[in-house]
Amino acid sequence: MRRIEVCLSPELVHLYDLKDKIVVVVDIFRATSTMITGLANQVKSITPVADLETCRNFRNQGYIIAGERDGLPAEGFELGNSPLSYLKNAYAGKKIAVTTTNGTLAIEKSKPGSAEILIGAFLNLHATANYLSTLENDVLIHCAGWKGRYNLEDSLYAGALIEALDKTLTYDCDSALAMKTLYQAAKEDLITFIHQASHSKRLQNHHMDADIDFCLTLDKFDIVGKLVGEQLVGKKIHEEKV
Ligand code: MLT
Repeated sequence: MRRIEVCLSPELVHLYDLKDKIVVVVDIFRATSTMITGLANQVKSITPVADLETCRNFRNQGYIIAGERDGLPAEGFELGNSPLSYLKNAYAGKKIAVTTTNGTLAIEKSKPGSAEILIGAFLNLHATANYLSTLENDVLIHCAGWKGRYNLEDSLYAGALIEALDKTLTYDCDSALAMKTLYQAAKEDLITFIHQASHSKRLQNHHMDADIDFCLTLDKFDIVGKLVGEQLVGKKIHEEKV
Protein backbone atom coordinates (compact mmCIF):
# COMPACT_ATOMS: atom_id res chain seq x y z
CA MET A 1 0.00 0.00 0.00
CA ARG A 2 1.17 3.55 -0.68
CA ARG A 3 2.67 5.35 2.33
CA ILE A 4 2.20 8.77 3.87
CA GLU A 5 4.62 10.46 6.28
CA VAL A 6 4.66 13.76 8.16
CA CYS A 7 7.70 16.03 8.54
CA LEU A 8 6.93 18.45 11.38
CA SER A 9 9.52 21.15 10.53
CA PRO A 10 11.74 22.23 7.60
CA GLU A 11 14.64 21.69 10.00
CA LEU A 12 13.89 17.93 9.85
CA VAL A 13 13.22 17.50 6.12
CA HIS A 14 16.81 16.39 5.39
CA LEU A 15 15.95 13.22 7.38
CA TYR A 16 13.27 12.26 4.83
CA ASP A 17 13.81 10.67 1.41
CA LEU A 18 11.95 12.94 -1.03
CA LYS A 19 12.79 10.86 -4.10
CA ASP A 20 9.69 10.32 -6.29
CA LYS A 21 7.41 11.47 -3.48
CA ILE A 22 4.51 13.91 -3.71
CA VAL A 23 5.28 16.57 -1.13
CA VAL A 24 2.32 18.50 0.29
CA VAL A 25 3.65 21.73 1.84
CA VAL A 26 1.37 23.25 4.47
CA ASP A 27 1.48 26.65 6.19
CA ILE A 28 -2.06 27.20 7.45
CA PHE A 29 -1.32 30.64 8.98
CA ARG A 30 -1.08 31.90 6.32
CA ALA A 31 1.22 31.23 3.32
CA THR A 32 -0.42 28.19 1.70
CA SER A 33 -3.94 29.33 2.65
CA THR A 34 -3.23 32.63 0.90
CA MET A 35 -1.72 30.93 -2.15
CA ILE A 36 -4.77 28.66 -2.56
CA THR A 37 -7.09 31.66 -2.16
CA GLY A 38 -5.20 33.61 -4.81
CA LEU A 39 -5.24 30.70 -7.25
CA ALA A 40 -8.96 30.10 -6.61
CA ASN A 41 -9.54 33.79 -7.40
CA GLN A 42 -7.96 33.58 -10.86
CA VAL A 43 -4.44 34.73 -10.08
CA LYS A 44 -2.40 33.59 -13.13
CA SER A 45 0.50 32.14 -11.11
CA ILE A 46 2.31 32.52 -7.80
CA THR A 47 6.10 32.31 -7.64
CA PRO A 48 7.33 31.41 -4.13
CA VAL A 49 10.68 33.04 -3.32
CA ALA A 50 12.81 32.41 -0.22
CA ASP A 51 14.27 35.90 0.32
CA LEU A 52 13.04 39.51 0.26
CA GLU A 53 15.64 40.89 -2.16
CA THR A 54 15.02 38.29 -4.85
CA CYS A 55 11.28 38.83 -4.47
CA ARG A 56 11.62 42.61 -4.80
CA ASN A 57 13.44 42.16 -8.11
CA PHE A 58 10.40 40.44 -9.60
CA ARG A 59 8.69 43.85 -9.67
CA ASN A 60 10.94 44.82 -12.60
CA GLN A 61 9.52 41.86 -14.53
CA GLY A 62 5.93 43.09 -14.06
CA TYR A 63 5.02 40.87 -11.12
CA ILE A 64 2.92 41.98 -8.16
CA ILE A 65 5.17 41.41 -5.15
CA ALA A 66 3.84 40.14 -1.82
CA GLY A 67 5.88 39.72 1.33
CA GLU A 68 5.60 39.02 5.03
CA ARG A 69 8.00 38.71 7.94
CA ASP A 70 6.97 37.84 11.51
CA GLY A 71 3.33 38.11 10.43
CA LEU A 72 3.65 41.70 9.22
CA PRO A 73 3.68 42.98 5.61
CA ALA A 74 7.18 43.48 4.22
CA GLU A 75 8.12 47.11 3.71
CA GLY A 76 7.64 48.52 0.21
CA PHE A 77 5.72 45.48 -1.08
CA GLU A 78 2.31 45.81 -2.79
CA LEU A 79 0.83 43.05 -0.69
CA GLY A 80 1.43 41.41 2.68
CA ASN A 81 0.24 37.80 3.23
CA SER A 82 -3.48 38.03 3.91
CA PRO A 83 -5.76 35.65 1.98
CA LEU A 84 -8.50 38.29 2.12
CA SER A 85 -6.51 40.50 -0.29
CA TYR A 86 -7.20 38.09 -3.16
CA LEU A 87 -10.96 37.65 -2.77
CA LYS A 88 -13.42 38.74 -5.45
CA ASN A 89 -10.76 38.06 -8.12
CA ALA A 90 -8.94 41.22 -6.98
CA TYR A 91 -5.72 40.08 -8.74
CA ALA A 92 -7.20 38.00 -11.57
CA GLY A 93 -4.75 37.36 -14.41
CA LYS A 94 -1.83 38.76 -12.44
CA LYS A 95 1.52 37.06 -11.74
CA ILE A 96 2.47 37.23 -8.07
CA ALA A 97 5.89 36.73 -6.50
CA VAL A 98 5.71 36.02 -2.78
CA THR A 99 8.10 35.56 0.13
CA THR A 100 7.08 34.62 3.68
CA THR A 101 8.80 33.72 6.94
CA ASN A 102 8.29 29.93 6.75
CA GLY A 103 6.01 28.77 3.91
CA THR A 104 8.17 29.75 0.95
CA LEU A 105 11.24 28.27 2.63
CA ALA A 106 9.42 24.95 3.15
CA ILE A 107 8.52 24.90 -0.56
CA GLU A 108 12.16 25.52 -1.49
CA LYS A 109 13.34 22.70 0.80
CA SER A 110 10.78 20.29 -0.73
CA LYS A 111 12.25 20.45 -4.23
CA PRO A 112 15.29 18.07 -4.22
CA GLY A 113 14.17 14.77 -5.79
CA SER A 114 10.43 15.13 -5.22
CA ALA A 115 8.08 14.06 -8.03
CA GLU A 116 5.59 16.84 -7.37
CA ILE A 117 4.95 19.65 -4.89
CA LEU A 118 1.43 20.58 -3.86
CA ILE A 119 0.34 23.27 -1.42
CA GLY A 120 -2.19 22.26 1.18
CA ALA A 121 -4.73 24.20 3.21
CA PHE A 122 -7.96 23.47 5.07
CA LEU A 123 -9.57 25.65 2.36
CA ASN A 124 -8.97 22.87 -0.23
CA LEU A 125 -8.42 19.79 1.98
CA HIS A 126 -10.61 17.31 0.06
CA ALA A 127 -9.58 18.61 -3.37
CA THR A 128 -5.99 17.73 -2.42
CA ALA A 129 -7.03 14.37 -0.92
CA ASN A 130 -9.06 13.45 -4.03
CA TYR A 131 -6.18 14.33 -6.31
CA LEU A 132 -3.66 12.38 -4.17
CA SER A 133 -5.95 9.35 -4.30
CA THR A 134 -5.58 9.25 -8.10
CA LEU A 135 -1.76 8.94 -7.97
CA GLU A 136 0.72 6.11 -7.31
CA ASN A 137 3.50 7.88 -5.42
CA ASP A 138 4.10 7.88 -1.69
CA VAL A 139 3.34 11.17 0.05
CA LEU A 140 5.18 13.42 2.51
CA ILE A 141 3.31 16.20 4.32
CA HIS A 142 5.85 18.96 5.03
CA CYS A 143 4.77 21.31 7.82
CA ALA A 144 6.28 24.83 7.55
CA GLY A 145 6.18 25.37 11.34
CA TRP A 146 7.55 28.59 12.82
CA LYS A 147 11.24 29.40 12.34
CA GLY A 148 12.17 25.71 12.49
CA ARG A 149 9.88 24.94 15.42
CA TYR A 150 6.81 22.74 15.52
CA ASN A 151 3.45 24.48 15.15
CA LEU A 152 -0.06 23.25 15.94
CA GLU A 153 -2.10 24.35 12.94
CA ASP A 154 0.07 22.74 10.25
CA SER A 155 0.26 19.45 12.12
CA LEU A 156 -3.52 19.36 12.61
CA TYR A 157 -3.90 19.80 8.86
CA ALA A 158 -1.56 16.80 8.46
CA GLY A 159 -3.83 14.77 10.74
CA ALA A 160 -6.91 15.81 8.77
CA LEU A 161 -5.32 14.86 5.42
CA ILE A 162 -4.16 11.48 6.76
CA GLU A 163 -7.70 10.80 7.99
CA ALA A 164 -9.15 11.80 4.60
CA LEU A 165 -6.76 9.36 2.87
CA ASP A 166 -7.26 6.50 5.32
CA LYS A 167 -8.48 4.10 2.61
CA THR A 168 -5.73 4.96 0.10
CA LEU A 169 -2.51 5.43 2.09
CA THR A 170 -1.04 3.79 5.16
CA TYR A 171 1.69 4.96 7.52
CA ASP A 172 4.36 3.53 9.87
CA CYS A 173 5.70 6.95 10.82
CA ASP A 174 4.99 8.01 14.44
CA SER A 175 4.44 11.66 13.52
CA ALA A 176 1.66 10.54 11.15
CA LEU A 177 0.03 8.46 13.90
CA ALA A 178 0.43 11.27 16.45
CA MET A 179 -1.01 13.95 14.18
CA LYS A 180 -4.00 11.87 13.13
CA THR A 181 -4.72 11.11 16.79
CA LEU A 182 -4.38 14.79 17.75
CA TYR A 183 -6.69 15.85 14.90
CA GLN A 184 -9.32 13.27 15.85
CA ALA A 185 -9.15 14.45 19.47
CA ALA A 186 -9.53 18.12 18.50
CA LYS A 187 -11.76 18.05 15.40
CA GLU A 188 -15.06 18.53 17.24
CA ASP A 189 -13.99 22.11 18.00
CA LEU A 190 -10.89 22.71 15.92
CA ILE A 191 -11.24 26.51 15.85
CA THR A 192 -11.27 26.91 19.64
CA PHE A 193 -8.28 24.57 19.94
CA ILE A 194 -6.22 26.32 17.23
CA HIS A 195 -6.95 29.76 18.63
CA GLN A 196 -4.57 28.77 21.47
CA ALA A 197 -1.71 28.28 18.98
CA SER A 198 1.31 30.61 19.23
CA HIS A 199 1.03 32.02 15.70
CA SER A 200 -2.71 32.46 16.10
CA LYS A 201 -1.93 34.64 19.13
CA ARG A 202 0.74 36.50 17.14
CA LEU A 203 -1.80 37.28 14.38
CA GLN A 204 -4.44 38.26 16.95
CA ASN A 205 -1.90 40.74 18.38
CA HIS A 206 -1.65 42.19 14.87
CA HIS A 207 -5.50 42.38 14.72
CA MET A 208 -5.59 39.79 11.92
CA ASP A 209 -8.38 37.70 13.49
CA ALA A 210 -10.34 37.64 10.21
CA ASP A 211 -7.39 35.93 8.51
CA ILE A 212 -7.34 33.21 11.19
CA ASP A 213 -11.04 32.38 10.81
CA PHE A 214 -10.77 32.42 7.01
CA CYS A 215 -7.73 30.06 7.00
CA LEU A 216 -9.68 27.58 9.16
CA THR A 217 -12.58 27.36 6.69
CA LEU A 218 -12.94 23.77 5.38
CA ASP A 219 -13.23 23.00 1.64
CA LYS A 220 -14.10 26.51 0.42
CA PHE A 221 -12.19 25.92 -2.83
CA ASP A 222 -12.25 22.95 -5.19
CA ILE A 223 -8.78 23.40 -6.62
CA VAL A 224 -5.37 21.81 -6.25
CA GLY A 225 -2.32 24.07 -5.94
CA LYS A 226 0.65 22.57 -7.80
CA LEU A 227 4.21 23.73 -8.48
CA VAL A 228 4.90 23.68 -12.23
CA GLY A 229 8.50 24.72 -12.78
CA GLU A 230 8.99 27.65 -10.40
CA GLN A 231 5.34 28.74 -10.44
CA LEU A 232 2.33 27.60 -8.44
CA VAL A 233 -0.78 27.19 -10.54
CA GLY A 234 -4.29 26.17 -9.59
CA LYS A 235 -6.01 23.16 -11.18
CA LYS A 236 -9.65 22.20 -10.88
CA ILE A 237 -9.66 18.48 -10.04
CA HIS A 238 -12.92 17.39 -11.60
CA GLU A 239 -12.29 18.99 -15.01
CA GLU A 240 -9.15 17.05 -15.78
CA LYS A 241 -6.92 14.52 -14.08
CA VAL A 242 -4.06 16.81 -12.96
C1 MLT B 1 4.79 32.09 7.22
O1 MLT B 1 5.28 31.80 6.13
O2 MLT B 1 5.36 31.95 8.23
C2 MLT B 1 3.42 32.59 7.40
O3 MLT B 1 2.80 32.59 6.24
C3 MLT B 1 3.41 33.77 8.25
C4 MLT B 1 2.19 34.66 8.15
O4 MLT B 1 1.71 34.88 7.06
O5 MLT B 1 1.71 35.12 9.17
